[in-house]
Amino acid sequence: MPSSRISGFYRWSIAERQAFIQDWAALSAPIPQGLDPDLANQMIENVVSVYGLPLGIATNFQINGRDYLIPMVIEEPSVVAACSFAAKLVREGGGFQTTSDDPIMIGQIQVLGLDDLEAAAAIIRAAEADLLAQANDPDLTIVKIGGGAKGLEVRLFPDTAIGPMLVVHILYDTRDAMGANAINTACESLAPTIEALTGGRVNLRILSNLSDRRTATAACKIPASAFATEDMTGAEVVQSIVEAAVFAEVDPYRAVTHNKGVMNGIDAVLIATGNDWRAVEAGAHAYSIRDGHYSSMTRWWLDENGDLNGRLQLPMAVGIVGGATKVHPVAQAAMQILGVQSTRELSEVVVAVGLAQNLAAIRALATEGIQAGHMSLHARQLALAAGATGEMVGRVVEIMINEGQIRLERAKALVEQLNGAQE
Ligand code: MEV
Repeated sequence: MPSSRISGFYRWSIAERQAFIQDWAALSAPIPQGLDPDLANQMIENVVSVYGLPLGIATNFQINGRDYLIPMVIEEPSVVAACSFAAKLVREGGGFQTTSDDPIMIGQIQVLGLDDLEAAAAIIRAAEADLLAQANDPDLTIVKIGGGAKGLEVRLFPDTAIGPMLVVHILYDTRDAMGANAINTACESLAPTIEALTGGRVNLRILSNLSDRRTATAACKIPASAFATEDMTGAEVVQSIVEAAVFAEVDPYRAVTHNKGVMNGIDAVLIATGNDWRAVEAGAHAYSIRDGHYSSMTRWWLDENGDLNGRLQLPMAVGIVGGATKVHPVAQAAMQILGVQSTRELSEVVVAVGLAQNLAAIRALATEGIQAGHMSLHARQLALAAGATGEMVGRVVEIMINEGQIRLERAKALVEQLNGAQE
């Protein structure tokens, strides 16, 4: 695998980047430029157009000793640059180390109309082997490749507004699929047997997006010296980063913003690879309040050498087969660029990107502040909106920043002025 450490990638033209990525990832064809309306019409209902978003590539990632280029789809400026920057810092400490659980998802079956929850729970537990055998039809492909229902759990809610409620959890190994279809099918197929066994009435049969049996974890360690700036020593920067992290651990108002930054990185990879980012978002936030206090998704601390250590663990229900991953041509190209071989590997890459994005955000916040970088990107967007093209974009940005006047009217005036000077 060639190195993902590329300097000045942002200065290349789109065509140069495309050619480089095609070669780097040994793609058999150029990266497709979007989605065909006829295909879009097959994907959802009532299609009238195709909405484009930028696909960028974050560089410099090294995860478990392997180099990755990371496809990211996002409308927000600075996220791709921030991830690439953080990945470069993490490289100096040996890259990201990641682990993940087996791809076990949870399916839920809601049973109502029971007088004795304990007795019903005992019946379900005693029938576990039979229920699993029923769910695991040997003809199912997922079962043939080692997946399928692996266990049952029973949860009791004796006192709800609708009376006593029993919830059966099916623990289902989805292998390389996200697994929603397989689990929902298993829940629906077991429901009549559960009704017959308990004498209760089944209402909902659906997967849970709190996939806390299927987490992925990324960790990194970076020497403090890597953070030195013109104004601050490395030790001062890492101390400020840890202070920022503790702020997010204890205060939910800060934690939400901190976690939004984590999800900037995570969602962008999920969208690029055709994964269901709403499912991951929902699970990630619920996981962040699992002990009753909404807290930061990440932890940052200093070790005995004064080096910065970081960790992120989240539920990560992703798939590399099925769904938009296989249908959307750009998602397929993104998967080839990533070159991941399993859902577990993809889930580990995703959390590494979330950790990188968080590091970049809190490093910026704890040093020069977020606005310095944002304002030049904002100025760039205004220049484009005002009609600047080519080299004029950089010129308009430079003048607005020097003047301290970053407004659309000023950008328009400058474009008019520079166009006039060219004529
Ligand atoms: C902006 O999209 C994300 C940040 O607000 C995250 C953070 O505050 O940590 C910069």
